Amino acid sequence: MSQGLTTCLPAPRLGLPAGLASEILERTGVEVAFYLPDGTRVREEGGDGAETADAAPALVLEAVRENADRLEGGAGEVRLASLLRRRSRLVLVALARVPVSGPAGEGMGRQLLAAVADLVRARMAEAETCRERDQTTEALTQCYEEISLLHNLGEALRVNRPVAEFLDDVCSALRETLGAEAVAAWLPAGTGLEPVTVVAGRLPCLVSDLPVLVGRVLAGLEPEKPVLINNHLGDDPALGGFSMALERLVVVPLPVGQEGAGAIAAFNRPGGEFGSADAKLIRSGASASAVFIDNRRLYVQLQQLMLDLVHTLVSSVDAKDPYTCGHSTRVAITCREVARGMGFAGDALKEVYMAGLLHDIGKIGTPEAILRKPGLLLPEERDIMRRHVEVGGQILSGIRRLEFIREAVLYHHEHLDGSGYPGGLKGEAIPLVARIIALADAFDAMTSNRPYRPMLPLEDVKREIGRATGTQFDPQVVRAFLGLDFGRLMQQFADSPEKLRAGGSEK
Ligand SMILES: [Fe+2]
Repeated sequence: MSQGLTTCLPAPRLGLPAGLASEILERTGVEVAFYLPDGTRVREEGGDGAETADAAPALVLEAVRENADRLEGGAGEVRLASLLRRRSRLVLVALARVPVSGPAGEGMGRQLLAAVADLVRARMAEAETCRERDQTTEALTQCYEEISLLHNLGEALRVNRPVAEFLDDVCSALRETLGAEAVAAWLPAGTGLEPVTVVAGRLPCLVSDLPVLVGRVLAGLEPEKPVLINNHLGDDPALGGFSMALERLVVVPLPVGQEGAGAIAAFNRPGGEFGSADAKLIRSGASASAVFIDNRRLYVQLQQLMLDLVHTLVSSVDAKDPYTCGHSTRVAITCREVARGMGFAGDALKEVYMAGLLHDIGKIGTPEAILRKPGLLLPEERDIMRRHVEVGGQILSGIRRLEFIREAVLYHHEHLDGSGYPGGLKGEAIPLVARIIALADAFDAMTSNRPYRPMLPLEDVKREIGRATGTQFDPQVVRAFLGLDFGRLMQQFADSPEKLRAGGSEK
């Protein structure tokens, strides 16, 4: 018995579709067995793994040694050992054999075996694509489960409120309780959040002076006296110089993170001085604000982490075609800016961005040979390419809360006049976000270099888009698009995580 025949390995982890040998035997009468490059027999799912003693693996080992398919005839049969590769690495050898009689039969047998080898390779490529798609689906589902959980927790803790809104509530409540002319909160840059200045009431100095005034107070505070109460600012040249109207001031630092940056300050109180009881109240407000700001910062960081994970997944799709590198991110940015021009705001803008980012996720299921093919696709290749919208829809269908993104992905190649795919939807039957992606996608395709044509100048792109308005593109989306500041858009591409330049592709 040849070497390795006693060991049988399960097939699925080798990328072998279950039941392939039985299917081929049934359809063609050709017997196929699979071996590892060392000659070990691979057991197909459902089979018993039993092997008959013959010289067949010698042909397998010969093919491995020669690094080429080997064909031999004789003893009433033809045998073909074909090498099967995954990402150019040899993973399996298929040994196919068919009984023949006479030279004519042998010729036919050879042709049949060549066809079977092609079929095996095609089925393995298909299985590989399915596996990649399933992995992407799983990774995306997990990402979104986490984003979903985060969103729900954020809602419960109310950390999805903007910091400025929270601080505004705190300042208004303090102002009312203290009877102060104004209470302001200031959070500088460098805390991991947007800098914020909010004022409740009428500030007795310029808002633009606030950072300098507060910064000066904070710099002068001492550890044993961490709060400033000053009821005679007119006597203080350093602080009183900001405004004649500024008489009384309490400043309490915002203990945010390690830095202790930012502050809450109360200004003037008609008919009374500020005292330590007032400072204590402001400190309570500052402590509550600091807890909120720290939680909010954590929430924003986690959200960014999730978004980075989606970016990484999407880049793995873009990487299948060097000409589409960065395409998804550029489309996402363009979609977001067009949507902003159409009046979208807040979470809706984030969702449009996410839909743009994921619009071609279904290309994970498109063979690289088609994605990378320079020039026009054959009709059957075009059909395979077009399937990416449905595959994308399937990938996203397992994710709760993402129905509108799924629809946008599924219908982003529809045309307003019904000539698009996959559904031939017309006008408003096409989801609005899908109409936005359609335009952003075409814009990126036209402003990209392709092997068969250079990128178009912006003015030509605008003219082309204008020509297709009303047939391919939605006029209201085109209006918002033409209103974009294209210099700023290119800057946003350059500032994106991938440091993109203009240019991408579409098929
Ligand atoms: Fe697409």
